[in-house]
Amino acid sequence: MSNAEHHEGTRRDFLYYATAGAGAVATGAAVWPLVNQMNPSADVLALSSIRVDVSGVSEGSQITVKWLGKPVFIRRRTPEEIADARSVDVSDLVDPIARNANLDGAADATDENRAMDEAGEWLVQMGVCTHLGCVPLGNAGDYALDGGVGGWFCPCHGSHYDTSGRIRKGPAPENLPVPPAEFVDETTILLG
Ligand code: FES
Repeated sequence: MSNAEHHEGTRRDFLYYATAGAGAVATGAAVWPLVNQMNPSADVLALSSIRVDVSGVSEGSQITVKWLGKPVFIRRRTPEEIADARSVDVSDLVDPIARNANLDGAADATDENRAMDEAGEWLVQMGVCTHLGCVPLGNAGDYALDGGVGGWFCPCHGSHYDTSGRIRKGPAPENLPVPPAEFVDETTILLG
């Protein structure tokens, strides 16, 4: 074997071992999340509930936060939006169930059963269309007072949700779900 061939062989060996080593690391990394999910640590458990400061949310606007990997809409409604949502007869709804994780599963879809507070100022719901999972747009649905625009509209296939997040028109089968949520002080909502 010439010197050149010997050198070449050594380099190939080195590459081989380096690759084998990287493979072992990758396997270890792939196994870890499975083990981790079976024994969720404190920080993983903490992620299943989050605190949201809503002090900066003005009337008639909403923020979107990410919870468990999904968007959640937190809206501070105007008196007109509340009145609009409360004027609807449940028997006119596509989905008559509240879909509120904080209430009994059979609770009906009155606005009182979907809003967070008695006055109905705060509405918290998943920002995931119940048809095929797109994110609906705010202030864009056909179901607002006086034929105006309000609620939410899903641009994927044209579902309209009213100012209470209830499905009113289009292919979506259910109201936007209300996740577990509560006020822990005047300006902080705990999700999860
Ligand atoms: S995903 Fe919203 S209408 Fe189809």
